[in-house]
Amino acid sequence: MPKKILVTYYSQTGQLEEIMKNIAGAFQNRSDFEITYYEIKLKEDFEFPWKPEVFYDTFPESYLQVPREIIPPSEEILNKKYDLILFGYQVWFLTPSIPVISFLKSEFAERLMANTPVVTVSATRNMWMLSQDKLKVHLNRLQAQLVGNIALVDRHDNYTSVITILNWMQTGNKEQKKPLPPAGVAQKEIDEAGKHGQIIMKYAESGSYGGMQKELVQNGAVEIRPFLIKVETVGNKLFTVFSGIISRKPQSRKFWVGVYKFYLMFAIWVVSPIVLFFYTLLTPFFYRKRKRQIEHFQGL
Ligand SMILES: Cc1cc2nc3c(=O)[nH]c(=O)nc-3n(C[C@H](O)[C@H](O)[C@H](O)COP(=O)(O)O)c2cc1C
Repeated sequence: MPKKILVTYYSQTGQLEEIMKNIAGAFQNRSDFEITYYEIKLKEDFEFPWKPEVFYDTFPESYLQVPREIIPPSEEILNKKYDLILFGYQVWFLTPSIPVISFLKSEFAERLMANTPVVTVSATRNMWMLSQDKLKVHLNRLQAQLVGNIALVDRHDNYTSVITILNWMQTGNKEQKKPLPPAGVAQKEIDEAGKHGQIIMKYAESGSYGGMQKELVQNGAVEIRPFLIKVETVGNKLFTVFSGIISRKPQSRKFWVGVYKFYLMFAIWVVSPIVLFFYTLLTPFFYRKRKRQIEHFQGL
């Protein structure tokens, strides 16, 4: 009997879809594996490209993980028991995106993921670390077994990638006007994602995944910038405050979303360079703590 692999993802732009298909491509033409694709779809999806006012207005429900209704997967997908799930997700406002959360909170996730090994694959701007911890809470609840993690990011500096991603989200164009580089994960890294699939396949053959994550990390599958862990930690605290205020004040939602947007720009352009300065200055004093953090996010 071939081993059954479920490849599941949501993708607005096609970036994550391409990555998932390239990773799964490693299993193609192998009669000992059977690949099934399941694209998460919302009954009412978000429009892409984004209108700016909708983009920022999506923050509270994203951050608070409020699910929407999804289109159920087919019975054919639901009725199989999978040997491995490749689970693709993206981050919205430091949290797994609403479509992904909607799936994870659905009865379908319970049916598909319980007692099943899962490799998570994220493709984000660069702030995925604390979202991975949020995702793990769901995987634990669903009794899925996290056996691997791939985290692909835009490797340009933090400021360039903010500009290019906002352009991309609001125009739909990944290519940018010169001198800006294309937004998102580099095309070369997307094209070469199959190399991670090769590693996964090797372990999937035996169904024993010990050592796989280490090999994925050595292969460049996980990009961590320690300074961004600090930015994410501070960001989550403030996002908790803002999402609370906005959800408690529906009558003045527009105003508070505007304040949030202003705060976000201020945090990115003014606060985060100051944090970076002090973060770098204090490196010798926090060396061990930061090493532990890197190990945590490189691991599972
Ligand atoms: C509403 C919204 C919020 C986002 N917030 C983040 C974020 O907090 N951190 C991050 O690294 N990327 C963020 N991104 C980028 C996405 O994670 C993802 O890389 C991008 O939207 C590509 O789309 P796709 O995976 O749906 O094709 C955000 C994107 C959107 C649309």
